[in-house]
Amino acid sequence: MDLSGKVAVITGASRGLGAGIAQVGHELGMSLALCSRSLPVLASGPHVLARELDVTDSDALEDFTHEASERFGHVDLWVNNAGLLEPVAPLREAPTEQLRRLLDVNVLGVALGSRAYLRLLHRLGGQGLLLNISSGAARKPYHGWSGYCASKAAVDRLSEVIALEEGERVRVHSVAPGVVETGMQETLRGKSSSDFKDVERFRGLHESGALLAPTDAGAALLRLAFDPAAAREGVCIDLRD
Ligand SMILES: NC(=O)c1ccc[n+]([C@@H]2O[C@H](COP(=O)([O-])OP(=O)(O)OC[C@H]3O[C@@H](n4cnc5c(N)ncnc54)[C@H](OP(=O)(O)O)[C@@H]3O)[C@@H](O)[C@H]2O)c1
Repeated sequence: MDLSGKVAVITGASRGLGAGIAQVGHELGMSLALCSRSLPVLASGPHVLARELDVTDSDALEDFTHEASERFGHVDLWVNNAGLLEPVAPLREAPTEQLRRLLDVNVLGVALGSRAYLRLLHRLGGQGLLLNISSGAARKPYHGWSGYCASKAAVDRLSEVIALEEGERVRVHSVAPGVVETGMQETLRGKSSSDFKDVERFRGLHESGALLAPTDAGAALLRLAFDPAAAREGVCIDLRD
């Protein structure tokens, strides 16, 4: 694919899946507006706008959106990728502040990012494509992941509501990307089986080389977005299907 001229916003672009999407998009010629709390994987340059921000800060997100549209003129694709995993433990042991933070970033952050993009599309008058990064955990319960499963289920439903409200203006998918080799997976593999019952299965997946590289998962997401041959019906999509 040649994606020169295409513009994407990617949240959570300092490492992991977000960095993988950014690196592949950059290689394919895209212009990118990247954000995360620490510096994004690519520095600001001719085709990159890199900003440090927290996706739960709505003012910072609106400013960033404005800056991206001033810089690149339009945004073809917005990816709400920033996310947290912790707390990983039975709910009865989950610390309040960690739960609150998880729901803030994984749900509120996605709602605020989606809203900023929709406002931009309405202001500019164009159509767009919104990918909210969900998880298989939205559709299946995992022991120890109460907050994470609930947050990703919320992302699925939020995305379905956006499709109802804005289907004429934006194609929206809530995408489970598969198991990707990132810091999140490393954290999981370090858990005890009392905190996370399936830990041995995830260690086994890692040892057998079954995890996707972030750039491969990133390439699959960009194909879903821009390659008509990879287009899928429906809002909630699992890239493993
Ligand atoms: N890895 C997997 O197997 C897998 C599977 C299914 C779904 N996912 C989803 O994929 C997405 C990326 O996960 P990952 O595995 O790449 O995790 P990761 O390696 O931990 O990366 C998370 C990214 O999100 C950013 N981030 C976290 N909180 C943020 C905030 N408040 N504001 C802005 N950026 C924030 C982090 O950057 P800073 O720390 O610099 O802010 C980082 O760039 C998540 O939504 C995750 O739930 C992952």
